[in-house]
Amino acid sequence: MKNVKTALITGANKGIGFETAKQLAALGYNVYLGSRNKINGLKAVKELNKLGFTDVDTLEIDVTNKKSIQKAKEELKTKISHLDVLVNNAGIAGEVSNLPSIDSIDNIRNVLETNFFGAVQVTQHFLELLYKSNAPRIVNVSSELGSLTLQSDPEWEFYPYKVFAYNTSKTALNSLTVMLAHEFKDSTLKINSVAPGYTATDLTNFEGERTPNMGAAVIVKYATLDTSGPTGKFFNEEGEVHW
Ligand SMILES: NC(=O)c1ccc[n+]([C@@H]2O[C@H](COP(=O)([O-])OP(=O)(O)OC[C@H]3O[C@@H](n4cnc5c(N)ncnc54)[C@H](OP(=O)(O)O)[C@@H]3O)[C@@H](O)[C@H]2O)c1
Repeated sequence: MKNVKTALITGANKGIGFETAKQLAALGYNVYLGSRNKINGLKAVKELNKLGFTDVDTLEIDVTNKKSIQKAKEELKTKISHLDVLVNNAGIAGEVSNLPSIDSIDNIRNVLETNFFGAVQVTQHFLELLYKSNAPRIVNVSSELGSLTLQSDPEWEFYPYKVFAYNTSKTALNSLTVMLAHEFKDSTLKINSVAPGYTATDLTNFEGERTPNMGAAVIVKYATLDTSGPTGKFFNEEGEVHW
């Protein structure tokens, strides 16, 4: 069993998750790139190997599938003795044009299944390994679109972006951050929500002026907090975001 710092990022085969894996590997972490498709995960690992990162591997994990999560946990337990960082990054946009008055329950359920229930069940399963770290950190990759304060502010740049299912899923994810931080307030575990900003990835059809690299840098900052760092908060690149 290795005794270096370890990290697991869900949905790390591409986009912001992949860049987060790269940056944590550059900091010397032994990184597991979660991927629901094994081949895509292996391709991502190969790409990192080509850049000189060797302490990286893939872990097949579909965050909507309990059996897949259990299998991934059992597999990871055979490879590492503790988990220092969990990044709940896997996410989908769903049907983006839908307003609350017309959005289908199927779409809402589907988006929450990945973005909220997925993060909840992955966290619950991997806590066993996180407990074995001296300073466990969890980052929930959220969005400013999940901030009810910003959603209610007509002056806010993205005020018209009322993507009901997606935004609601991130508000719910933020609730997980607050509740877990409270549950673990007397422990060394720190958990925060991070908004990477509007980033050009598959999820946005490559719209957005920010690069995955920029979004990943914010995630990595809160994944590697020292003991004086915050917990139970919501951050973007500029600082704290209102819930
Ligand atoms: N891009 C933005 O502007 C932006 C802004 C704010 C927040 N975010 C958040 O950032 C995170 C990463 O998004 P991204 O922009 O990097 O998008 P992306 O390039 O589409 O990456 C999403 C990742 O999530 C994975 N995924 C989706 N469903 C999954 C499931 N059921 N199980 C496991 N993995 C699953 C995808 O895997 P496949 O390749 O198999 O589909 C992919 O690896 C998301 O949580 C997103 O909501 C993005």
